[in-house]
Amino acid sequence: MQKFTIKLIPGDGIGIDVINEAVRVLQRLSELHGGVKFDFQPLPWSCEYYLKTNCMMPQDGLQILADCDSILLGAVGFPGVPDHISLRELLLPIRVGFDQYVNLRPVKLLPGLSSPLKNEAIDFVVIRENSEGEYCGSGEIKSPDTPAETVIQNSVFTRKGTERIIRYAFEYAKNHRLHKVMSATKSNALNYSMVFWDKVFAEVKSDYESFEASQMHIDALAGYFIMHPDRLQVVVASNLFGDILTDLGSAMLGSIGISPSANLNPEGKYPSMFEPIHGSAPDIAGKGIANPVGTLWAAAMMLDHLKLEDMSSKLMDAVSKVLLAGNVRTPDIGGKSSTTEVTDAVIAAL
Ligand code: NAD
Ligand code: IPM
Ligand code: MN
Repeated sequence: MQKFTIKLIPGDGIGIDVINEAVRVLQRLSELHGGVKFDFQPLPWSCEYYLKTNCMMPQDGLQILADCDSILLGAVGFPGVPDHISLRELLLPIRVGFDQYVNLRPVKLLPGLSSPLKNEAIDFVVIRENSEGEYCGSGEIKSPDTPAETVIQNSVFTRKGTERIIRYAFEYAKNHRLHKVMSATKSNALNYSMVFWDKVFAEVKSDYESFEASQMHIDALAGYFIMHPDRLQVVVASNLFGDILTDLGSAMLGSIGISPSANLNPEGKYPSMFEPIHGSAPDIAGKGIANPVGTLWAAAMMLDHLKLEDMSSKLMDAVSKVLLAGNVRTPDIGGKSSTTEVTDAVIAAL
């Protein structure tokens, strides 16, 4: 029997619902398999926890997580706790502390989904830098609450951080028999960070001469996502650009509730973390209508990462089957079903 310890951080709002659903599906997959067991260890870290304890996770939070095989996270953030506290004290410290420097986000129109775009040939990945850049968290407020108030938000781009993510993008293309890598830049305006990003991109691409390597300014690239998604294969982007592009990517699939995210520490020194790209959706929290597909897809990415590829494809096949049948789906993609009904259908399809 193979055993995997999965630490769960359901978090806030719909994060709780979608993690419950992922656990049900993973448990069913484990029963069907017979030789794989998941030990799910839920952690209460959330905004509710913060209001009781004044911290989003305990001081030794990373140590508590360190010995697991993977982390599955729902969503963090809720009215009552400022977002820059909840995210800066829980989600981002895990990504950075565990050196999960790759945030892999597929943008793929699954069978049965319909895109708001005319062009439905959508199947590419965004490889988002996940450990530094615009998210470095450093800055300064000068003369607060005076007419001279001046706020500085820094970005930090290191050679190590920039080179490894760009190289990862080319290696990803190579390992997946893809030949195109697109870099998201904005070196016309960001005269330090993105000029440096472009320089490193040019250096790395010279090691991959048989690949078609291009770059576009992020504004033009956002338009290109809409106009020519079929021309994209691998997109590599900084932390903030990758964040924005992937909500756009998910919207191209019909809903922000669809897309998954794998926060990877490729060296395997620390656990990796899997989550949907969406947030806690306070506007629909407690209504039981959150789309669970993003989280189920994230769970499938986790199974791939744990080298349980058969289980992962069974799960994605079942999700696709339900989407294709079309009669059980949540309201965000035009249905009337609840979160639980969608998962029940996925379990039945398994
Ligand atoms: P959001 O993703 O929570 O919601 C945006 C819109 O999409 C809302 O209308 C919501 O109802 C809808 N939506 C999101 N997920 C859905 C799903 N699974 N099914 C159906 N509809 C869905 O983004 P937001 O409103 O900007 O953020 C809300 C909170 O979540 C904030 O506190 C934010 O900081 C946090 N957040 C957390 C994460 C994370 O933990 N990884 C990610 C994004 C936002
Ligand atoms: C995401 C989220 C986070 C991010 C927020 C909540 C800090 O939007 O995972 O995409 O920007 O990375
Ligand atoms: Mn985001």
